[in-house]
Amino acid sequence: MLAITQEQFGGPGTLRLTEVPEPEIGPEDVLIEVAATALNRADLLQREGNYPPPPGASVILGMECSGTVAAVGSKVLNWRVGDEVCALLAGGGYAERVAVPAAQILPIPAGVSVVSAAALPEVACTVWSNVMMRAGLQAGGTLLVHGGSSGIGTMAIQVGKAAGATVLVTASRDDALERCGHLGADVGINYSREDFVERVLAATDGRGADVILDVVGAKYLHGNISALALDGSLVVIGMQGGARGELDLGALMARRGAVIATALRARPVTGPGSKGEIVTAVVGHLWPLVAAGSVVPVIDRVFDLSQAGDAHRRMAHGGHFGKILLQV
Ligand SMILES: NC(=O)c1ccc[n+]([C@@H]2O[C@H](COP(=O)([O-])OP(=O)(O)OC[C@H]3O[C@@H](n4cnc5c(N)ncnc54)[C@H](OP(=O)(O)O)[C@@H]3O)[C@@H](O)[C@H]2O)c1
Repeated sequence: MLAITQEQFGGPGTLRLTEVPEPEIGPEDVLIEVAATALNRADLLQREGNYPPPPGASVILGMECSGTVAAVGSKVLNWRVGDEVCALLAGGGYAERVAVPAAQILPIPAGVSVVSAAALPEVACTVWSNVMMRAGLQAGGTLLVHGGSSGIGTMAIQVGKAAGATVLVTASRDDALERCGHLGADVGINYSREDFVERVLAATDGRGADVILDVVGAKYLHGNISALALDGSLVVIGMQGGARGELDLGALMARRGAVIATALRARPVTGPGSKGEIVTAVVGHLWPLVAAGSVVPVIDRVFDLSQAGDAHRRMAHGGHFGKILLQV
């Protein structure tokens, strides 16, 4: 089959469409004929050699896909050849076919095309598991989303609104903030010229945000604690601003706050805290919202798989809004 591979780590130009061996499925796996895959920021790091796939995962890039079931393992009872699905992958999505544990597969929500469904698994599972399952966002609460224009951010805005929360977002461009507003964000903060802590406190009468979904990390740690409401949760899922910061425990205690940090890719397939558990919750709670049209996949642009390098350049350059897809 054809897949995107690299002879050596490096820039987008190292990504080439080449012939590779077919993936093999185990008894609990499903083989998917890939219709589309989507970029994640972690793909850029993996391409550069700075984010190795978890042990046992494919070295081919791609942490999510959509497509059609082409074969099922002997112990797989809930999927059949021909089913249209999307899936969370540990790797291997930038290819014509991929093998994936059945527990990581989701049906395509009603009303979503097979190609568009590639935009959903990673952001749906990341946002739902962190904002709803871990941080427990409540109706009437306030959610602050850093990076509102990202794949993650565009899903978090919609999930926050569907949960009945007030949603505040940060982004570096006014046009992106305007589009976040169209998705439901109540307050847009241009982080390149505004102090997000001041804006959050002003927008909440000094109360702060009940849940903060953060993709920046160390650089925002102090500000995020300052912007947290009483009993609030800061959920760190990205470290674009560094991994090591100083935590003011006094300030955290004064807010009775929680700092949570999670990564989806390395979670086990089944059991407590697994991808399977998150997939089940997403299908049960978030998919009905997608089927009803209150949460939609937000797609920036669809490239051909052979243009993976151009797609990576677009993400690295910034300025995209939502997910970047590669159609196979
Ligand atoms: N832990 C997990 O399980 C998990 C899973 C998926 C994704 N993630 C993380 O989530 C983040 C988003 O992923 P993605 O694939 O959706 O990437 P993406 O579309 O490329 O988005 C990156 C976002 O980061 C924002 N950003 C960068 N610096 C910022 C700052 N100082 N303040 C506010 N926002 C800032 C950018 O906003 P501007 O363009 O406006 O600058 C952009 O919206 C990445 O850090 C990724 O690693 C984590």
